[in-house]
Parts: sequence; C-alpha cells; structure tokens
Amino acid sequence: MSITGIKGMNDILPADVATWQFLEQTARDIFGTYGCQEIRVPVVEKTELFCRSIGETTDIVEKEMYTFDDKSDHSLTLRPEGTAPVMRSFIQHKLFNQDQVTKLYYMGPMFRYERPQKGRYRQFHQIGAEIIGIDDPRIDAQVLAMLSHYFEAVGIDDVSLQINSLGCPECRPGYRATLIEFLQQRMEQLCPDCQRRCASNPLRVLDCKAKACQEATVGAPSVLDHLCTDCETHFASVQKHLDLIGTPYSINDRMVRGLDYYTKTTFEMITNNLGSQNAVAAGGRYDGLIEDLGGPSLPGIGFAMGVERLALLLEGNGITTATPKLFIAAMGSEAENMAFSLLNQLQHHGIHAEMDFSGKSLKAQLRRANKLKCSYTLFLGENELADGNAQLKCMSDGEQTALPLEGIFVQLRQLLDAPLSTSL
Ligand code: HAM
Repeated sequence: MSITGIKGMNDILPADVATWQFLEQTARDIFGTYGCQEIRVPVVEKTELFCRSIGETTDIVEKEMYTFDDKSDHSLTLRPEGTAPVMRSFIQHKLFNQDQVTKLYYMGPMFRYERPQKGRYRQFHQIGAEIIGIDDPRIDAQVLAMLSHYFEAVGIDDVSLQINSLGCPECRPGYRATLIEFLQQRMEQLCPDCQRRCASNPLRVLDCKAKACQEATVGAPSVLDHLCTDCETHFASVQKHLDLIGTPYSINDRMVRGLDYYTKTTFEMITNNLGSQNAVAAGGRYDGLIEDLGGPSLPGIGFAMGVERLALLLEGNGITTATPKLFIAAMGSEAENMAFSLLNQLQHHGIHAEMDFSGKSLKAQLRRANKLKCSYTLFLGENELADGNAQLKCMSDGEQTALPLEGIFVQLRQLLDAPLSTSL
C-alpha cells in the first residue's frame, strides 16, 4: 500500500499555489507599506515557551500541541502559533535595542492537534504581524486598518471586524470574579468542559459552542462594564481613531480569545462563509507577554490570519499560475535542434516557453499548446525551414504570421515581452 500524508496536514498542489502566492505577496506588499519587516523563526521551540505564553489552561496547551522529547530528552513542541516564537526571538536578539518600535511580519506553518474539518487543520498556515514597543491606542487602530486594508487588497469583502477589550491585570481579576459568581449560579446548565473551565478559565465559557452553555450565559456580565479607567480610555480611543480613518468595526463583548496573553484590545475578522470556522484572522494587544518571557517591559499588538481560510474564501476567483507565452512545435531533427536552442534562449531571458520532447505529430503538439494555454505557437517544420520563415499562430484569434528565421529570437523576444494585445 502506498504511503499517504498525515490526517489534517494538506499538500498545497500546484493548481492552488497561485492563490497562496498571491496571498503571501499581497501581505509582503501591504505590510511593507506599514513599515513591517519579515522575520523567520523555527517551527520547533522549547515546550516551555508555549506553556508560559499561551497559558497552561488553554485548549492549545492542554490538548492540541505536538510535543515530543528529542534524543537529548528536551521537550520540544511544533509551534501552534507565531507570536510566542517571534517574541522569543525579539528578546533573544535584543531587537529592542535597534529602535523604539519593532514592526514584524511572518508567514508559515503552525501545528495544532485539532479535529480536522473544512477550514480547520492540524498543519495550517498563518500570515501574522506584530508591532512591539508602543501602547498608544492609535497603534491598535493602525494594526486594524492594516488588516482591513489587506482584506480589501485581496478582494475578500464578505468579512467583518469585531473588537473587544479584555482589560488588564488590574481590572480583569475583578471581572473574572464577577463572572465566576454568575457562572456558579448556572453550573448545572453548563457542559462538563465549561464546568471545569469555571475555575480555570471562566472567560472561555462565553465562547463555548454548546447550545446549553450559550443559553446559560445569556445576560452574563460584560467585560466592558468592568474595565479600569486606563483600559476604558484606551478602548474608547481605539474606536475614536478607527472612526477617524473610516475602518468599519463592531463591538463584541463576548469575544474571548483562546490564548492567555491578551490585554486590552482584542479582535477577530469574521466571515459567514466558512461554517463554524468563522474567524479568518484574529489578534490583540499583549502588553505583559514580553516581560513574562524574560524580556523588557514592552507592549505589543498583532494578529494572524489563517491562510487556508483566506484561500477558501478566494476559491473560484480565477487566480491562476501564469501560462506559457510560447509553444514551439517542431518536426524533423534539424527543426527540433533549432527549436531546442530557441527554447533555451527564451527561457534564459525570462520568457516562459515550452516544446515537445516525445516526438509527437505537429497536430498533437498544437493540442498540447492549447492545453497549456500558451499565448502563441511557433511552427518549425521542414516546409518552414525550406522557406526560411516560421509560422507564428496567435492562440486566441488563430491568426497566423510568417516570421523570418533569421533573427527570430530577437523578434520573438520583442513580441513576447510586450503586452499580449500587441499585434505584429
Ligand atoms: P488564533 O486565533 O489562535 O491566534 O489563530 C489566528 C488564526 O489562525 C485564526 O483566526 C484562524 O484563521 C487560523 N487558525 C487557527 N487555528 C487553525 C486551524 N487549526 N486550522 C486552520 N486555521 C487555523 C493566534 O494564533 C495568535 N498568535 C494571533 C496573534 C498574533 N495575536 C497577536 N498576535
């Protein structure tokens, strides 16, 4: 039996790669405009990094990490997300010494042992950005504007931005206590997971998908009514600046995040087109994380987008890989030799050209040129060699033109480098 891939870990096949490259390149372009630079960190880190940052009582750390001991008995984990590794690297390489603000972006695979379904995988990919060093609410608005700008640029408009504030170490304990009190009165209605969460991670109860839990938490105290003055002012200012720059959003005070490092602003970009996997991007502020990981006391804010989910939303949008500009159909050994040299010259000059290497008839070669969606086919048969002119066929309108063999490379290069609408 042949060996198959691992459940929940997908191949991204050539037919889909154009969309991925488009999503990645647009991120490079847009994030670059906002001053972000790319950082690349390993896919494996010490397990401790994720336990300390994401939080011991989160689903990710409790149930979803790919953790193993290496041959030296060190516990390592395949990264379930990018923020913690990027912060580890930021601290380790003292990037904070280079500038008062560090703006980074990253892309690559992440790993979570989740139940695979459409839009949820065990190896998935994120494109993320992190802005470190400034706690001004205008930075929150900028990050959200950059995220919205990205969605606009890739042409995904059926999404909405939801924002919330999760408070800070000063005000969250008070809210947590109030919420626990509320939940304790409804303990019997909650699912077993949430009964357990009440003590360990009560905010997550608000996020439970079980109908009973959703019903039981109607009217739960809102985190926004329990913010301290600093968090309240910050959140109001984020909204004011989003309004100022015209970035649409709505407030969702039941949005809690699955990672413990958040403070103040949190957000999700939500779609209605992916069933229950409705978050296409998510993030927030993490003002205590860098210090918790042994770095200086510096604030940060960022987000990550799920590339598989973005790609699903772009399905059918017709993003395809560029097709060859020219197919050289040759017949007879002299013509084939000429075709081979010409092919090599064209490719060397960055022009995507193809030819046949299996001795097919001219008719079959033309069929292949059609299949490959080549813009032009150049016929080089015995007649053409005798005549001193090759025949160039425009595949879109069928028009055929004679091209003198003398200097044919220069002519082809001019034609194929030019926009395809240019006629001879
Ligand atoms: P997250 O909400 O865990 O946040 O993930 C961000 C995004 O990654 C999700 O909104 C979703 O699009 C995608 N995603 C997550 N899990 C899966 C999965 N199993 N399959 C497919 N896509 C998935 C974070 O990871 C934070 N590090 C975001 C952040 C950056 N916060 C601050 N900076």
